Amino acid sequence: MRHELRTERELSLDFLRVCEAAAIASARTMGQGDRKYSDHVAVEAMREVMDTVPMRGRIVIGEGERDEAPMLYIGEAVGGGGVEEDVLNEFPEVDIAVDPLEGTNLCALGANNAIAVLAAAERGGLLNAPDIYMDKIVVGPSSRGVVDIDAPVRDNLKNIARRLGRDIEDLTVIVLDRSRHKKLINDVREAGARIRLISDGDLSAGISAAVAGTNIHALMGIGGAPEGVITAAAMKCLNGEIQARLVFDPERLGVDQDKVPAREEVIGRLKEMGINDPDKVYDTDDLAPGKKIIFAATGVTDGALLRGVRFFGSGKRTHSLVMTTESKHIRFVDTVHVEGGPDAVIRF
Ligand code: FBP
Repeated sequence: MRHELRTERELSLDFLRVCEAAAIASARTMGQGDRKYSDHVAVEAMREVMDTVPMRGRIVIGEGERDEAPMLYIGEAVGGGGVEEDVLNEFPEVDIAVDPLEGTNLCALGANNAIAVLAAAERGGLLNAPDIYMDKIVVGPSSRGVVDIDAPVRDNLKNIARRLGRDIEDLTVIVLDRSRHKKLINDVREAGARIRLISDGDLSAGISAAVAGTNIHALMGIGGAPEGVITAAAMKCLNGEIQARLVFDPERLGVDQDKVPAREEVIGRLKEMGINDPDKVYDTDDLAPGKKIIFAATGVTDGALLRGVRFFGSGKRTHSLVMTTESKHIRFVDTVHVEGGPDAVIRF
C-alpha cells in the first residue's frame, strides 16, 4: 500500500490526535492526588498515538534521558506506524518537544490550566534544551521588540503599557509563586502592575500572554527550560516574543547548593548538548529556529484558553489549540469523541 506523504497541515491534525489522547488519559485521573500517575498515563497515551503518525520523528525534549524514562525519552525515534523501512524513509523527518502533562500538580489537584502539549519542527528546528531552569519574559505581538530580559522590570512594564496604550496599573503579569521570585514580585508591585501568581504551568501562562483578550500581558520569571522551548514554538505561531536565559546558580534559584547540580557539572552537560555559552540570552528564534513549526495543545483541566476534557455517557469532548507557521493557521478545535452507538446524542 502506498502511504501518502503528510503536509504540515495534515501533520498538525495528527499531532492534535496525539495531544487529545494524552489529555483524555490524564483527565481521567484528575483530582486523584497522584501527579506521577497522571503524568504516566499521559506519557503512555501520547506515545501510543505518536507512533501511528506517518513521520520519522525524534524526541528532542521529552521525559528525560534514555536511562531515566521508559518512553518519550530524548533521542527516541517515534512515528512511522509500523511500516516497512523503504516506506518509512519517505516520511518527513520531524523533531518533537513534548510535555504530555504540563502542570502535573494542577491535574492531580483538579486545578485550572493543566494541558497536554507538544511542538514539532523540521530537523534542528527546536533547541535541545537541558532539563534545568530558565528565566523567561514572554509578551504578545503588540509588545514584541520592546522588552529586554536584562532591563529593570519597571522599564519593561512601561514599554509594554505604552505599546498597549494603557497605564502600567492596567497590566497583569503572571509569575510562578516561588520564593525565588520575591524580588521580581516586589519589582512588579512597586511598578504598579497587577500580578497573577500561579502555582504551576508557566507554559500555558506564556501562551495566554500572547493572546489578546486573556487580560494577561506578560509572563516573567524562572520556570523549566523545556517549557521555554515549547513556549517559543507557540510564540512563532502567535507572533509573540520570548527572551530567556538558563539558570542554575543556587542563589538565583533561592536554594542551597546541595539542592542543584554543581556549576561545572551543568556546564559540562551543556557543552555535550552543544551549548557553549551558559549565560546566553535566547530569543524566540534561538529557542525555536524552525521554519515549519507545529504547536498542539489540549486542555486537561479548564483554563484561560482551553476547556478541560469533559466526559459524558456516550463519549468525551476535548478542546485544543493547533497552530502552524507555514500555513499560518491558528485553530481552536472542539472535538466530540463519540463512543455510544447509533443513538448517541451530540450536543452543540
Ligand atoms: P510539571 O508539569 O512537570 O509538574 O511542571 C510544572 C511547572 O510548574 C512548569 O510549568 C514550570 O516551568 C516548572 O514546573 C517550574 O518548576 P518548579 O516547580 O520546580 O518551580
